[in-house]
Amino acid sequence: MQELRLFNTALRNNGCEDWEADMRLQGKVAIITGGARGIGRASAELFAEEGAQVVVADLSLGEDFASDRVAFKELDVTDEQSWKRVAEETVSEFGRINVLMNNAGMVGSYEPIDSISIEDWNRVVAVNQTGPFLGIRTVVPYMRSNGGGSIINVSSIWGIAGAAGVAAYTASKGAVRLMSKNAALTYVGDGIRVNSLHPGIIETPMIAAQDVDVTAGVVEATPMKRLGKARELAYGALFLASDESSYMTGAELVIDGGYTAP
Ligand code: NAI
Repeated sequence: MQELRLFNTALRNNGCEDWEADMRLQGKVAIITGGARGIGRASAELFAEEGAQVVVADLSLGEDFASDRVAFKELDVTDEQSWKRVAEETVSEFGRINVLMNNAGMVGSYEPIDSISIEDWNRVVAVNQTGPFLGIRTVVPYMRSNGGGSIINVSSIWGIAGAAGVAAYTASKGAVRLMSKNAALTYVGDGIRVNSLHPGIIETPMIAAQDVDVTAGVVEATPMKRLGKARELAYGALFLASDESSYMTGAELVIDGGYTAP
């Protein structure tokens, strides 16, 4: 406790009084793709609890949100026109876009390179890679006119470490990692920070739908020997969205129970 007090005093002395504000995303407007369920939903709930106005952008909503600070907009992340509509509506209803969390994603196929169909490959790349690309290019002009913003691209442990099979997923998640660094360097002068978030195996509908043996194998390879919770990822996203990460861009935040440590 004593160290924490000294640390807080040091922050104050460095002019960081804003960090003491009650809510960590007070006044920010955040778009979260794939926010209807899983990691995106947990992030939407947490962002709203921390004072943000959240726009959940997904193919469909499913279960409603309890918070009146969460609005839903239909979005297919592969479609540039629907991105433009969501961004325009967000700005006209809520005034600005401060945060974009490119979270929508799919595994789609577990096939390796020599057997995945071109259709499956193209669909996974369209959602996981082209989706965040379209999201970044849609919001950058709005963020630039605000004087900055924070973009969080959800990659994976399989955007860092290899995995056998799942060719399109690993290729697309690896691309997201480097696209984040590219965007970070390109837009740093606009005050736009871009970071990637790398979940390990997390208990969500995506994982519930996959073969239990695949899940058991990844849990076994995870030093903590358990699935992560969506809320544990949401806290990482909250940090990247907030001004607490103001000196962080082009970086990778790994939340994986130790999977990539060995
Ligand atoms: P999930 O499958 O539970 O939720 C994904 C959401 O994305 C759904 O609401 C779905 O409707 C939406 N979505 C899918 N295609 C879309 C499209 N074309 N346009 C708009 N929305 C679309 O997934 P989960 O587990 O919450 O994953 C979230 C992100 O985290 C994904 O990018 C995933 O690849 C990544 N991730 C998840 C891990 C896990 O173990 N759950 C591990 C590593 C990464």
